[in-house]
Amino acid sequence: MRLRLVFQDQRVEMDPVPSEGEFSGGVGSLLVERAQGVLHVGLGDRAKVSAAGVRQALAAAFLWMRKVGVAVAVLDAGPWGEFVAVMVEGAILGNYRYEAFLPRKTEPVRELVVVVSAEMRSRVRADVERGCAVAESVNQVRELANTPGNLLYPEVLARTARKWAREWGMRCTVLEGERLAREGLGGMLAVGGGSAKGPCMFALEHRGGGRGERPLVLVGKAITFDSGGISIKPAAGMEEMIFDKCGGMAVLGAMVAVARLGLRRNVVGILAAAENMPSGSAYRPGDIVTTYAGVTVEVVNTDAEGRMVLADALGWARKRFDPAMMVDLATLTGACGVALGEHAAGLWSNSSEALAQVQQAALTAGERVWPMPLFEEYSTQIRSSVAQLKNSGGRLGGANTGAAFLKVFAGETPWAHMDIAYTSHRTKEEKGLASGATGFGVRTLVHLAEAL
Ligand code: BES
Ligand code: MN
Ligand code: ZN
Repeated sequence: MRLRLVFQDQRVEMDPVPSEGEFSGGVGSLLVERAQGVLHVGLGDRAKVSAAGVRQALAAAFLWMRKVGVAVAVLDAGPWGEFVAVMVEGAILGNYRYEAFLPRKTEPVRELVVVVSAEMRSRVRADVERGCAVAESVNQVRELANTPGNLLYPEVLARTARKWAREWGMRCTVLEGERLAREGLGGMLAVGGGSAKGPCMFALEHRGGGRGERPLVLVGKAITFDSGGISIKPAAGMEEMIFDKCGGMAVLGAMVAVARLGLRRNVVGILAAAENMPSGSAYRPGDIVTTYAGVTVEVVNTDAEGRMVLADALGWARKRFDPAMMVDLATLTGACGVALGEHAAGLWSNSSEALAQVQQAALTAGERVWPMPLFEEYSTQIRSSVAQLKNSGGRLGGANTGAAFLKVFAGETPWAHMDIAYTSHRTKEEKGLASGATGFGVRTLVHLAEAL
């Protein structure tokens, strides 16, 4: 199938068979000309063509082609040669669907031929490499993220991370079982205590920089299923909580991409993996937990488990890796979705420089983030009378009190927190991405690591 990029103001003369409603020429809108084997792909406003738009348009085209069973696509990049990397990215992202357990599977588009002008020849190979490395890493972790809790639990994650680390030349350290107690990871043990599947914390190290260079440390919440624990969640929609590992998946995907790209920088990825379940061995409301950093926490809600494991992960990251900067990603609060909808991840930071760096990286990556406050009052909301902190500040400002909790464990280290609760997955396909995990965050983290 030949792909033709068209703008909103272009008239497409033919027998129109719009795939969905009217063909608008808007970003990602499609018009099929079956007889000619042409797929017109809308790029939107000619004056506003952006990398994000091109990525999304290609993704929409590939998602459609996969569904109807197109094997080979040809695209003349024409004057848009500078966008080859994002074209490849979009194509690969759109070409993914989670079908592991469907009896009738669709075939991915097998081949994409991109035609570029002669003067592009020198850089096109690197662009294609980059697009592949990033998008394939995203899809690898989307597949993990889409895998449900009965099949994917902390030990499986650690095993997968080990395998990928070996494949891409990273060091992988796993803390599990006895070691967690010996090292004092009280938050991990509390949250993981209710599950038959033990928790684990692991680190992947990409050493592309100098020996003395302090690393960028990425930290991800990887709750493989969040039932809420003793403070159990309502039944409706609880199945969505298989996506509570998506922060960790973003970090894992970014580490694979960074290693594949051979970035000349030290980057460490840490995943705090646990399953949050109610049982006779589960932690309970009222418990007082001593975290790795020694900070005591009164548990008022066992469903605020993400911050419990991240407290340990951030504390451990600081002690063990002496980071130049830390960024954590977490499906931390429903409240973040109330504030921003599905349309942006919340972004908090203790440093205006770190904030600006993450904002810039997200912009380049085409992943939307929005700055959120860390007013002192949020910290007051999570004061406890029996411990240093309590793990919930109540309903009001819930996303901000979650961030304020994490801030304590970032200490003096420049740190940013992204709440991806509602950007991490979709219940229906959108913007060229199949339903399920979106892989949100991987691209921002890769751009951040490159830019620093
Ligand atoms: N994993 C949830 C947050 C979440 C909710 C993600 C909905 C995606 C969709 C998190 O562990 C959680 O339960 N947070 C609580 C915090 C509260 C108890 C302070 C919440 O949002 O209600
Ligand atoms: Mn929870
Ligand atoms: Zn959770």
